[in-house]
Amino acid sequence: MRHVKLADNCGLKVSVVSLGTWHLPRLPERDEAGAYKIDYEEFKRIMKRAYDEGLTFIDTANRYHGGITPVPLTHVGNAERLLGKAIKELGLDREELVIATKVAGRMSPGPNGAGLSRKHVMWQIRESLKRLQMEYVDIYYAHTFDPETPKLETLTTFNDLVRQGLVRYLGMSNIPAHHLVEYVMLAREWRLEPIVVLQYRYNLLDRSIERDIIPIAKRFGMGIAAYSPLAQGLLAGKYVDFKSRKWVIPPLSRGTYQDFSRFFTDENLKLMLELNEFARERGLTMAQLATAWVINMGEGVWGVPIIPIVGVSRLQHLEEALEAADVKLTHDDLKALDEIVKSSRTT
Ligand SMILES: NC(=O)c1ccc[n+]([C@@H]2O[C@H](COP(=O)([O-])OP(=O)(O)OC[C@H]3O[C@@H](n4cnc5c(N)ncnc54)[C@H](OP(=O)(O)O)[C@@H]3O)[C@@H](O)[C@H]2O)c1
Repeated sequence: MRHVKLADNCGLKVSVVSLGTWHLPRLPERDEAGAYKIDYEEFKRIMKRAYDEGLTFIDTANRYHGGITPVPLTHVGNAERLLGKAIKELGLDREELVIATKVAGRMSPGPNGAGLSRKHVMWQIRESLKRLQMEYVDIYYAHTFDPETPKLETLTTFNDLVRQGLVRYLGMSNIPAHHLVEYVMLAREWRLEPIVVLQYRYNLLDRSIERDIIPIAKRFGMGIAAYSPLAQGLLAGKYVDFKSRKWVIPPLSRGTYQDFSRFFTDENLKLMLELNEFARERGLTMAQLATAWVINMGEGVWGVPIIPIVGVSRLQHLEEALEAADVKLTHDDLKALDEIVKSSRTT
């Protein structure tokens, strides 16, 4: 797997594809809260294969469980726990891994149980490190915006975490553009550790970050980690029966516990059929096409590193993602894909 510098304004190198842990491989049984039990052995196989292939950039968050969303407070922390356990049991070299986790989501019911306050962040970094069985994380993200905490409080706390050796680099996720710029400028003004990486949704169906977030990343030398590159599986074509040209929900898929009905439109069905054809003509699966599109948009169009964070619920998904890392899409391909998406939106 190729490795690239995550951002102009830092020296960290990461694999061109990252592995996410929001949803993990699942067993058919569910617990009393309706959460799928996690297929830990399959997750371990995925981690081992990823590591052996050089996919060493791993994304998690303090709130993730792996088999349910939204995550009840009884289930938070599970993904970090399983990730830490798998890394230990597999004997992976921690220094070869780039581990990113996040803070801000609700972790306990009290008034300080969520957000970006000094109290919450100082508590959660220690909890994340315990769950991960690590001494530090490589990237610590603000997961969402917290309008109640002064920005400087969060930035100085994040700065302290770097100084204390608990965190190597800082990131921000899902923060509205104007607030993001304020954080970046404040960090500069106060000579605090800079934000080096942004994490936002980016895929063929949702290109909203092209308006402001990507230009901001470019302007300030930040890299982007793109979540849901397959629009949560939709762009893998798994929700379409291509023979009958109808939407379907496959057993055990994310669609069995999350409401995907808003995606199941005639427009999107047409798009899936055309993307399927486009991928087939180039010898790719739809998942590979969607993942490669994100990388190629970063490298070929925007001139900003855009690392797709793929979610995989079985080893086969990972195999496809590994191959996608080297797929080169030409400018003509990217233009043709723009046209396919545009035309599906206007019919
Ligand atoms: N910062 C944030 O707020 C935020 C938000 C969302 C995600 N994230 C991060 O980004 C990561 C990726 O997000 P995501 O899971 O939504 O990504 P995604 O890549 O858009 O969707 C992953 C899902 O697509 C399906 N899939 C993947 N490869 C496939 C293949 N080759 N063939 C058929 N189906 C395939 C699987 O669905 P099934 O599970 O149904 O099999 C898989 O769980 C997360 O794990 C998390 O680390 C961050």
